[in-house]
Amino acid sequence: MVIFEQIATGGCQSYLVGCTDTCVAALIDPEISQIDHYLALAARDALRIRYLIDTHTHADHFSATRELARQLGARVVMHHASPAPFVDMRLGDGEMVVCGRLRLQVMHTPGHTQDSMCLRVEDRLFTGDTLLIGGTGRTDLPSGNPEALYDSLFDGILRLDPALKIHPAHDYKGQKQSTIAEELAGNPRLQQRGRGAFVEMMRNLNLTMPAHITEALRTNMSGGKTVAQLLAEAAATVPFMSLAELKARIEAGADDLIVLDVRERDAYESGHIPGARLLPRGQLELRVNQELADPTRRVLTCCEFGKVSTLAAATLHEMGYQHAVALDGGMKAWTEAGYPVKSGKEP
Ligand SMILES: [Fe+2]
Repeated sequence: MVIFEQIATGGCQSYLVGCTDTCVAALIDPEISQIDHYLALAARDALRIRYLIDTHTHADHFSATRELARQLGARVVMHHASPAPFVDMRLGDGEMVVCGRLRLQVMHTPGHTQDSMCLRVEDRLFTGDTLLIGGTGRTDLPSGNPEALYDSLFDGILRLDPALKIHPAHDYKGQKQSTIAEELAGNPRLQQRGRGAFVEMMRNLNLTMPAHITEALRTNMSGGKTVAQLLAEAAATVPFMSLAELKARIEAGADDLIVLDVRERDAYESGHIPGARLLPRGQLELRVNQELADPTRRVLTCCEFGKVSTLAAATLHEMGYQHAVALDGGMKAWTEAGYPVKSGKEP
């Protein structure tokens, strides 16, 4: 039997496809913020994820394939044309991924990107961004090509069994069910059946660029980390203290805590927590021996929004300051709460 789960992250769609006979599964187009969700679903369905498949290089969301591969010892799967250096298994048109008793059949469908592929599994077709419900992928992002998309659609997947259910990598309207036949009949982008007219239509869509395109392409093509990942990893390694707790301790005259302001000097001088010392994040590693000679002291880092201070506290932990704590919030929230602020140079 086949297990099929669809997981939405905004408009991005991921799919877990598993074989109940063998407990083996593939995860298609996973997104970085949903890792716990995928693992929980696979556990609930008694599945082990073996394959992490990206249907193409995503420009609009952060792929979880590499991180999940690391956690699970599973394989990252993409088309041969993928530029990502961390892909474990590269596929070509007409090949298959064997996933327990399931066969995931690959069709190379360039157009949205050069490395786009569709995967057919029994009565389902995972279309990536080649064919959407009521739309198609755009062709104006890096490696996009409207002529290639036309060929991939009209000489490719639209010639398959009209009863095939389609499952795209994006859907912004909560639509979950469609077939090749329904798309041929009603999808507005497919009504331009001549190649020239289709290409002309695709060239004139004038779509806005996706948010985070630079970061998405950087991380998805290199396997590097997103800013949110770096922050989440840092936050997982350090304790935090609330704004109210710190204020109460300062007012009680506590002297067991060094407040370390890691912003730049001008920000510090325009307003800081009374008693805070200045050590900008950019100089932290180089000046830490002079500024924080006793690594057993409790050090609380603060910054403007509570993000850079989390990175700074994690760095301090790594350097042996086991009592480093980050402020849960930053100077912006501190000031907005009406808590005491001192301006001017360091004492
Ligand atoms: Fe895409």
